Amino acid sequence: MHPAISLPTLIAHRGYSAAAPENTLAAVRAAHRAGVRWVELDVQLLGDGTPVIWHDADVARCSDGRGRLRRMTWPQTQTLDAGRWFGKAFAGEKMASLEDMLALLDALEMSVNLELKVNRGHDPIALVDRVLPSVLDALPAERFVLSSFDQTALRHSRTFAPANTLALGVLVNRLPKDWRTLCADIDAFSLHAHWGRLKPAQAEAVVQAGYALLCYTPNDPHAFHPLWAWGAASAITDEPEAFQRYLSASFS
Ligand code: G3P
Ligand code: MG
Repeated sequence: MHPAISLPTLIAHRGYSAAAPENTLAAVRAAHRAGVRWVELDVQLLGDGTPVIWHDADVARCSDGRGRLRRMTWPQTQTLDAGRWFGKAFAGEKMASLEDMLALLDALEMSVNLELKVNRGHDPIALVDRVLPSVLDALPAERFVLSSFDQTALRHSRTFAPANTLALGVLVNRLPKDWRTLCADIDAFSLHAHWGRLKPAQAEAVVQAGYALLCYTPNDPHAFHPLWAWGAASAITDEPEAFQRYLSASFS
């Protein structure tokens, strides 16, 4: 048994990352404004152990600073502008801590697919030890799925809570041969795969095996359309409004 999670058709990837700087509070607010109630976000630890919502191992691409997260402290990150790179309207946006993000998700009554991002050289055990208690405390089990490419992070997560109170998702690029073992090992709720590399028979096998299938990161709804028929539950997209327009045109 898993938590009674009602997965949405659309999940906004890194927040609404086509409309606002990815993985920021602004990106989650943008998703909410667009009527999207689930977001995918990446979490990792700074050098001082603070969990932050960030994708890359360094800050160069998504801020006005430089440096690796592993060598930064929380006060240092707060001197960076994490919005201006995306657009003038977002100047002053800061890197979000996990705690700030969880508070916003709670306030907006939103749900999250939180990706435990284990960049090269990062410690998956430390990440899980710091992140899991906060998430379990902040959100009801029906409102989050934790996923990771890192099987150590997933296995360690499972030691925190059984499958009926903690939904875990195996995250893969191409579907590996041993996907059944990976899912069974952690009593997975879901499998998250690259949408463009999935074949119909693979998608159907995942769904047949009882796992929810989430697909990242399709941004062209027309190209993604067949995946719904193959059994995909959710599209994790940067462009939720393009999908909404497509869906309302196709099914109205
Ligand atoms: O969780 C789906 C997707 O976010 C995985 O890849 O690199 O965008 O974090 P990435
Ligand atoms: Mg991600």
